[in-house]
Amino acid sequence: MSEPSDVNYGGKVHGGMVMKWIDQAGYACALQWCQSYCVTVYVGGIRFFNPIHIGHLVKLEARIIYTGSSSMHIAVDVFSKALGKEHFIKNTHCIIVFVALDEINRPKAVPSFLPVTEKEIAMRDYAIRLMDLRKTIDEEMKPYIND
Ligand SMILES: CC(C)(COP(=O)(O)OP(=O)(O)OC[C@H]1O[C@@H](n2cnc3c(N)ncnc32)[C@H](O)[C@@H]1OP(=O)(O)O)[C@@H](O)C(=O)NCCC(=O)NCCS
Repeated sequence: MSEPSDVNYGGKVHGGMVMKWIDQAGYACALQWCQSYCVTVYVGGIRFFNPIHIGHLVKLEARIIYTGSSSMHIAVDVFSKALGKEHFIKNTHCIIVFVALDEINRPKAVPSFLPVTEKEIAMRDYAIRLMDLRKTIDEEMKPYIND
């Protein structure tokens, strides 16, 4: 349940708090998958569709949608609802990427995710399309990374 201490200046849940929950849910998912230490390497496409109200129930769903050699791409959906309401509404969706690291902090191999259901295959394809788009974004942002 979102708490009074999660508030922003507009009286709703602070965006930074939602980002923290996304990182925590994604980390728990990545850790379960690779069973070893991992770090966030990328978070993309966070768009807050609807505000989350203080005192509402918040639900996060995190699932592996693609694995590379050391990376785990995780889709995170955030939902909320007022107490007593039947249905959750979706507040945001994003993709967060974790990389598993060995004892000397080098990327290390993770188990492969093999999509089976139609939905899993669609999400895997979505992750691959996003990776391609990200190359363009990375190129565009390059001048501002090391200036
Ligand atoms: C994670 C880290 C060790 C990776 O080092 P690196 O030199 O970039 O390693 P690599 O180039 O071999 O990339 C490792 C993986 O990260 C992935 N990766 C790198 N940049 C990425 C990006 N922009 N988006 C998605 N994945 C990315 C690569 O695709 C690769 O995945 P793969 O092995 O499945 O192909 C390094 O970037 C790091 O330490 N980052 C800081 C992590 C951190 O502290 N996070 C907490 C937030 S402050």
